[in-house]
Amino acid sequence: MQPVHIPPRADLPTLAAAAADCQGCDLAQLPGTRTVFGVGPAHSWLALVGEQPGDIEDRRGVPFVGPAGKLLDRALGEVGLDRAEVYTTNAVKHFRYRTGNGPRRIHQTPDLRHVTACRPWLSAELNLVRPAIVVILGATAGMSLLGPSFRVTKMRGRLLPGPAGSGAQLLATLHPSAVLRADPARRDEVYAGFVNDLRIAVAARP
Ligand code: URA
Repeated sequence: MQPVHIPPRADLPTLAAAAADCQGCDLAQLPGTRTVFGVGPAHSWLALVGEQPGDIEDRRGVPFVGPAGKLLDRALGEVGLDRAEVYTTNAVKHFRYRTGNGPRRIHQTPDLRHVTACRPWLSAELNLVRPAIVVILGATAGMSLLGPSFRVTKMRGRLLPGPAGSGAQLLATLHPSAVLRADPARRDEVYAGFVNDLRIAVAARP
């Protein structure tokens, strides 16, 4: 492992290129993975922060392009947003997985050490994009931006102050995978709650 080096005065493409070589935590050593950096406009009023790329995102090199991303797109559409207008990234930029008996790569939640190692990249992205609102999608993103005591159930659905000096507000909600994993009998209700949280972010648009 090596200390994370954020190039000074870099723009997003330069940051992304530097992050591709990051050796800041053990996830860089996992076979067959790559850094999946954020995507979207250089400046946007809204940034979405997820957990980490999944298997499909790792293969394609783009955040939220698998099933969770499809659900996210649907929910964004319901609140009048198009993904192309928002900056989308993750708290951790590598796919953490384990293997079972077969070739399938099984998602593993990143640990605090992965979140902490990757945090300078997230801060650098947000400092450049300068969103007015940052939507925290789930516990890992919350841990990165609000600390290890973050709890989605306690903090979701209300605007919270962002990092000092950023001028941003934070809005925490569920991770879209939590909607996909919800008991089918409750899934519509869980999805409606997710959309409702996104509406609060839209209502706060400057
Ligand atoms: N889940 C995430 O948190 N991020 C992605 O990019 C995909 C799935």
